[in-house]
Amino acid sequence: MTDVAVAGGGLIGLAVAWRAARRGLSVTVVDDAPGTGASAAAAGMLAPVTEAGYREEPLLRLGLDSLARWPAFAAELEATAGTPVGLRTVGTLVAGFDEDDVRELDALHAFQRELGLAAHRLTPREARRREPALSTRVRGGLLVEGDHSVDGRAVHAALLAAGQATGVVLVRDRVAEVVADGGRAAGLRLASGDVVAAGATVLALGARSADVPGVPPLPVRPVKGQILRLAGAAGLLEGTVRALVRGRHVYLVPYAGDRLVVGATSEDRGFDPRVTAGGVHDLLHDAIDVVPEVSELELTETLARWRPGTPDNAPLLGPSSLPGLVLATGHHRNGVLLTPVTAEAVAELLAGGTLPEVAVSFGADRFESEPIGRTQWS
Ligand code: GLY
Repeated sequence: MTDVAVAGGGLIGLAVAWRAARRGLSVTVVDDAPGTGASAAAAGMLAPVTEAGYREEPLLRLGLDSLARWPAFAAELEATAGTPVGLRTVGTLVAGFDEDDVRELDALHAFQRELGLAAHRLTPREARRREPALSTRVRGGLLVEGDHSVDGRAVHAALLAAGQATGVVLVRDRVAEVVADGGRAAGLRLASGDVVAAGATVLALGARSADVPGVPPLPVRPVKGQILRLAGAAGLLEGTVRALVRGRHVYLVPYAGDRLVVGATSEDRGFDPRVTAGGVHDLLHDAIDVVPEVSELELTETLARWRPGTPDNAPLLGPSSLPGLVLATGHHRNGVLLTPVTAEAVAELLAGGTLPEVAVSFGADRFESEPIGRTQWS
């Protein structure tokens, strides 16, 4: 019997496990292939301001809270794991490619200012002074100095090491079922048939969270993203460049060494695993329009994974309708950003019995008046 069983060994599951173990709980994580889902695809942007959508202010506030936790979280993680996580704190530039895109940037800037967020409009020349690799065709920019990035795969590797150093047990098997006893979650049944019996069970299975037998109905659906990795980009960009290119969104995120991530499509196609010619074409076409030198880079990896989408794009955190089953899922486009706040809030609930104020409005009960079912959101 363990204090906590965590279903899912992606960034969220491992971070919850690590923080719960730091609070003295015994923790077992179950995953047959940890870190190969959305965590492997994530570009690692810590970008609450440039990801902010209209009518998503609660999510924005949660994102800003989590962003503020990142430096201490990264420092403790690096110290415990002994490996770097690539936190880059140089800000994000949003480029507008044509005049319509710049009008969209102006609307975004007005929205950001209304919310009191720090963002500065740049002329094309100012944008290129900041990022000399930008095309001369870019018509305008917006600088958000507070939006950063981290290397999501490095964070996952560090969480594996930090969990191990803190006593987290990792069981490499597939979660087959959340088992209940007397109307209460009692742990996880594995594909092997073994049961991990637990006082509390955490659901952190990303886009697959709603599909596990024994889990009460949840409004989580897969939102497909195709994403590319390239090499040879040393010194190409100062920080993340996001762009609107003829109304389409693309982002370019540089990493230590010479790597660059270009992403990402956003598609409602269920668990379609295909990387498509059109997806790769659109991403590269738009990225090359904004930063022409991208055409000279080596394309080293293409990947399709699924964001765990929810009806309001915000996560599901805290108690579920099944007593003993705690939710840490539904992070949609913000899994890496929201890792620290999710881990710390859920660990506090597990260890102390109370979900902190910052997370209370993200319970699954906020959708209770709406019927829940895959067809509604697809
Ligand atoms: N956060 C970026 C994405 O989901 O594509």
